[in-house]
Amino acid sequence: PENIGIRAMDVYFPRKYVDQVELEKHDGVSTGKYTIGLGQEKMSFCDDREDIVSICMTVVSTFMKKFKLDYKNIGRLEVGTETIIDKSKSTKTFLMSLFKESGNFSIEGIDTTNACYGGTSALFNACQWVDSRAWDGRLALVVCGDIAVYASGNARPSGGAGVACMLVGPNAPLVLEFPFRGTFMEHVYDFYKPDLSSEFPTVDGPLSVVSYIRALDFAYRAYIDKIELAGVVNPSLLSLDYLVFHSPYTKQVVKAFARLIYNDFLRNPSDSQFADVPREFFNESRESSYTNKVLEKTFINISKPLFEKMTAPSLYLAKNIGNMYTASVFFGLASLLSASKPSELLGRRIGMFSYGSGSAASFYSFKVVGDISQIVKNLDLEARINDRICVSPNQFEEIMSHRENTHNSVAYKPVGDVSELFPETYYLESIDSMYRREYKQV
Ligand code: ACO
Repeated sequence: PENIGIRAMDVYFPRKYVDQVELEKHDGVSTGKYTIGLGQEKMSFCDDREDIVSICMTVVSTFMKKFKLDYKNIGRLEVGTETIIDKSKSTKTFLMSLFKESGNFSIEGIDTTNACYGGTSALFNACQWVDSRAWDGRLALVVCGDIAVYASGNARPSGGAGVACMLVGPNAPLVLEFPFRGTFMEHVYDFYKPDLSSEFPTVDGPLSVVSYIRALDFAYRAYIDKIELAGVVNPSLLSLDYLVFHSPYTKQVVKAFARLIYNDFLRNPSDSQFADVPREFFNESRESSYTNKVLEKTFINISKPLFEKMTAPSLYLAKNIGNMYTASVFFGLASLLSASKPSELLGRRIGMFSYGSGSAASFYSFKVVGDISQIVKNLDLEARINDRICVSPNQFEEIMSHRENTHNSVAYKPVGDVSELFPETYYLESIDSMYRREYKQV
């Protein structure tokens, strides 16, 4: 099969959000801490009517309908998520209920978990299945998403929620460049979820930020080495046209982009764009470079024009929704596609950086070889973003503490108002005395 990659995609995000300006006031932090310091405008969240299963059901059912796809024609379904409600039963098996009517029970693939990275691994698996001798000619679905919630405190405004669904197969307009992939994995305790009774992660914020950048350095260099091996002369950021990053909050992406320019400087310090860069940065040890604020600022300034062109368009959903862990990088892709004229994208290369704490990261790329206008039309992002419900910080906190108190409940009836969900949303109807969840659709 030729041109394996993403044939279609859609996203789902909850209808309720809290405004970050309001949240700054409510939390009594300095003005600009969340909006400028983190670069966030709005944060999506779910009440007790939605869980990881319901949001995945919503995105799969609306995706199949919008793109007029036949459930019988799916031969693989992969789920990437770190929102775990069951230590054994996968989210994938819940999604099989959507396939029941079609009679299609022959679908390989299962859940993949490691922080925000599971979606990327699921996508690689699906593409590699199509490329393998195990492929039976049908298409694959990759579903990834999370409900990203933090305990109240400084990490809380970096939450969010969302889920993406992608159709993978041959003859795709967004072709995965198989050989061009740089991966970096190591053991680190930066963000993890050891308390199985809680929805919240245990986070070492400053360490997570450095781990992200460390993984980016290594994955990017490995990617650049691969494209050089394939014949690209003098490879650098300019060998790509767009760059999409995992976005825990958009300020981190500004720093990540600048870090790539710094890596290009280390590779080729005599390049004219670096004429004014202090030479001492070249001799700085990698370890101390992570916390050198002057270095960071210098490269943020140099990178501004390129950042605006290559990456800013991919941050629309991230700014308006927040982090969605495994789905974040794909929401970035959806934003980029929606912000560009399909004809401008044709022939372009889109770099992707996926980071999951713990840690696992890959830098890889897509080549746009076909028309993506139908995807953009179906995504309809701006209209959907503007059709949301703004909730006050007080109400947001009430909903969050109710979620916290009822997490892992048995024989439970959710109380959230179903009329406030988007049309056709799946929601949790009840949990019975054997923890069995029942879902309904608006
Ligand atoms: N106006 C403008 N900027 C401000 C203001 C203000 N009023 N107040 C603070 N800032 C800036 C700070 O100077 C700082 O900037 P810098 O990053 O350039 O140094 C930035 O806002 C963050 O403020 P801090 O006080 O350093 O950190 P904070 O206590 O707000 O915590 C953190 C930020 C660590 C990211 C926290 O939100 C967190 O732990 N989030 C979860 C972990 C996370 O997202 N990690 C990222 C990678 S891993 C993953 O994806 C989960």
